[in-house]
Amino acid sequence: MNQKGHEFKGLSGGVHYRRLAKLFGMGEAYYRQCIGNIRLTAGMKALDLGCGPGALSFALAQTAHPDSEITGIDISNDQLNYARHFAGSYPCKPAFENCSMDALPYPDGSFDLVMTSMAIHTTPPSVRRAAISETARVLKPEGMFLCVDWSKPRFGLLGIIWFPFLCWGDKNKDNWDNVYPQWCAEQKLHLCEDAYLNSIARRQVFKKI
Ligand SMILES: C[S@@+](CC[C@H](N)C(=O)[O-])C[C@H]1O[C@@H](n2cnc3c(N)ncnc32)[C@H](O)[C@@H]1O
Repeated sequence: MNQKGHEFKGLSGGVHYRRLAKLFGMGEAYYRQCIGNIRLTAGMKALDLGCGPGALSFALAQTAHPDSEITGIDISNDQLNYARHFAGSYPCKPAFENCSMDALPYPDGSFDLVMTSMAIHTTPPSVRRAAISETARVLKPEGMFLCVDWSKPRFGLLGIIWFPFLCWGDKNKDNWDNVYPQWCAEQKLHLCEDAYLNSIARRQVFKKI
């Protein structure tokens, strides 16, 4: 891990990452579940933190109005280049940029939706906290934060497969202990929805008040 987080590159980036992610339950159905009933109408803007190869952005793009905007950010060029390869398949053509989630190069109140899947836990604790405060800063009033990350496993196949990895190292304790809602509350992001999508992936939706 570098000081900003675990950069997924080489054998853990791009096509290799996508293949492995699918094996571990992160196929198209998982991303559709993440998005749920969230839709982008004309003029709306969304930001995907730690977008990787773009699967969450593309799941949102499938139903997004052509005049909406989706931007994915990541610190790995391997992931971003892979994502860019598919961006032209969607009418709103998501854009992918290299930056870290704790220092977003966007003005205050730029986005209607900030979203993230399985990325916050790959960063050091200081970056995680800063990412949530940056999220609150770049969201418009009443904007939405969709946060999916793994949390304390519940009984189920994925929980059993992942359990040894999840227990390894205390760097993962924040999401295990479900501290994101507390950090979000400090940034005036109010928890509206909270549910497991499977035995490890926890989907939480916050609204900026
Ligand atoms: C486990 S992958 C998740 C990728 C994608 N969201 C998905 O659902 O497949 C975590 C991603 O976060 C990226 N990442 C790690 N630290 C980051 C940071 N500080 N800022 C932005 N992206 C970061 C990694 O390069 C990697 O692509």
